[in-house]
Amino acid sequence: MVLCLITASSIFYLQPGRSRYLQKCMRIQNCGRYLMKHVDITRQKIIPSARVDTVGLEVFVVSDLHTEYEENMAWLKGLPKKGKKKEVLLVAGDVAETYEKFVLTMSLLKASFEHVFFVPGNHDLWLRREKENYIDSLQKLDKMLDACHRLGVETNPSVIDGLAIIPLFSWYHESFDREKDIPGIHIPSLELACKDFRACKWPDGLTNGDNSLATHFDAMNDKNQDTVQEMLASCNQIISFSHFIPRVELCPEKRMLFYPNLPKMIGSDFLEARIRYIHGDRGSTNACHIFGHTHFCWDILLDGIRYVQAPLAYPRERKRRMNGGEDWLPFCIYSNGELTENMSPCYWSDYYASNPRTPDVTELAPWVARFYRKL
Ligand SMILES: [Fe+2]
Repeated sequence: MVLCLITASSIFYLQPGRSRYLQKCMRIQNCGRYLMKHVDITRQKIIPSARVDTVGLEVFVVSDLHTEYEENMAWLKGLPKKGKKKEVLLVAGDVAETYEKFVLTMSLLKASFEHVFFVPGNHDLWLRREKENYIDSLQKLDKMLDACHRLGVETNPSVIDGLAIIPLFSWYHESFDREKDIPGIHIPSLELACKDFRACKWPDGLTNGDNSLATHFDAMNDKNQDTVQEMLASCNQIISFSHFIPRVELCPEKRMLFYPNLPKMIGSDFLEARIRYIHGDRGSTNACHIFGHTHFCWDILLDGIRYVQAPLAYPRERKRRMNGGEDWLPFCIYSNGELTENMSPCYWSDYYASNPRTPDVTELAPWVARFYRKL
């Protein structure tokens, strides 16, 4: 396995020109790209999900559309229009940075799929490029949810042909990360590395500095509690989905990441508690949860629940063939009345399917060590 070709998530953000140190970081990042270009890339392409020879309902998943990128918008416009088949799409957040692009994206998706479900991601709540002067990111969220309602995009749990689909609101919190930190290197702070700290705006009492945002977004799911309980009593098959990640095992270990503190801004324990309430502590053969955010393709079974990420990701990530995909997305997760075969090959989850997680080992992976040595 050519592990050294894997990048950290693009959430890792370094603002050029901010300081000499950061400029140097950027040069090292570019150097990393150079190295990647000159190493033999032997990764196989992910096999497209089937859209033929199926009977009944089909459910597709995708996350991190980022349609502010022209290439991503072009991919979206190239999707086949709605046909006779009953097709459902679950969009696991980070659709677009502006409200205008969000509405356009969801309208186009509704032209391709009979049912579209959505949960918001962090980029959807950024305000920095909005023409409208929002009081805060929650006001923008309300407007987005209203737009979904108008367009017929579902944001609440719903049953389609016996299959329960449950969108879950979430936000990350730093205490989600309980694995050992990497000592001996200077890692840029979360405030510097993550644009959310500058691009989102929150009302008093909500902040990225504690659990308040994570609990606020989690509590948004309470209004659906009765509906979910009815679904648990009447549906054998349930697919839940969120933008953020529910378990740290769904991200590579810190020593593998160019930004080793990434696990501090990606996940929510409250989310995993919701998922376990829905699917059970031991899960079942029909239990599946879809997520997004980190741009790492993922498909793995953990304690009886299948966890899947199928991100479109950024054009530059697709060009490096590190993450994301355009020729195999959206990924078909359910057809012929059951969950489909695993995404294959799926780099990091394949790696963890045969290698134990050893977070107590804090020696940096060679490609990360090289990066930090040059700072
Ligand atoms: Fe995200």
